[in-house]
Amino acid sequence: MNVHAAFHQTTAAVPPIVQVSNLVRSFDAGTNVLDHLDLTIGDGEFVALLGRSGSGKSTLLRTLAGLDAAPEGTVSVPPQRAVVFQEPRLIPWKPVWANVALGLGASDARERAVAALTEVGLGHRLDAWPLTLSGGEAQRAALARALVRQPKLLLLDEPFAALDALTRLKTQGLVASLWMTHRPAILLVTHDVDEALLLADRVLVLDKGRIALDWRVNLERPRRHAQRGFAELRAGLLRELGIDEEEEGVEPLESSVAALIKAQSGGNPSPVDRDLIVSHVGVSL
Ligand SMILES: Nc1ncnc2c1ncn2[C@@H]1O[C@H](COP(=O)(O)OP(=O)(O)OP(=O)(O)O)[C@@H](O)[C@H]1O
Ligand SMILES: [Mg+2]
Repeated sequence: MNVHAAFHQTTAAVPPIVQVSNLVRSFDAGTNVLDHLDLTIGDGEFVALLGRSGSGKSTLLRTLAGLDAAPEGTVSVPPQRAVVFQEPRLIPWKPVWANVALGLGASDARERAVAALTEVGLGHRLDAWPLTLSGGEAQRAALARALVRQPKLLLLDEPFAALDALTRLKTQGLVASLWMTHRPAILLVTHDVDEALLLADRVLVLDKGRIALDWRVNLERPRRHAQRGFAELRAGLLRELGIDEEEEGVEPLESSVAALIKAQSGGNPSPVDRDLIVSHVGVSL
């Protein structure tokens, strides 16, 4: 398959829900972390943002979240938005359901929290203390806390980065299905090219303070590593990012996820996990 058939320069296809123009942000005089950046995100669009460490991804996300008081430029975002960070940021002295209900204020806050927690598969941990949750469960609670606010824009800053490979795969699947059900626009910051291609409609690269690359990903959903065209897109994107797979030790597609999971599960994953891995990676274990 020709890479460019499924992976080409984007054009706006849906009405915009985020519009950023001429955004400038610097922390010390002289260097602009964000340098006259322009960005449009369509209603319901799933956008992944890549870029080297320190390129300003979190700064952009914080600006869109309204957490940065001092950007210059025009930023238009919907009022209903929610953020999930790399760490779950749960309040340890409140039970899980109360963390999710926090700030809702409505009389049905608990009911709504329960519904959101059930949707992320935590209906059985409503009264648990956050510190007793596993890393994956805590991140699902953070997703429920975002979801319960019915965001039109969901901002995710490396939400899977601290999870082990199998939990990451499952949580990515959960985010994909939550997006299909609720259809918020999503901006997902990630360092992981595979994750971007598994999830997003568009992949952006932030470099020198601007969106240096903006590609549309036309792969059928649900996405799998093993699906036709995926490997070509991955190679194309790595090339665009200037990453030499051999020189920089990037694992070949067939072995990367499988090898990690094998190592973590002692080479003996459960039948359910085995199916998940095989369907994603397309290799037998
Ligand atoms: N509050 C702050 N005060 C001073 N400098 C900051 C602040 N926030 C960010 N920076 C600087 O801005 C630059 C961009 O930071 P940012 O956290 O946005 O990068 P990033 O792309 O998210 O990196 P990473 O991939 O490592 O998370 C960095 O040089 C960082 O040191
Ligand atoms: Mg960051």
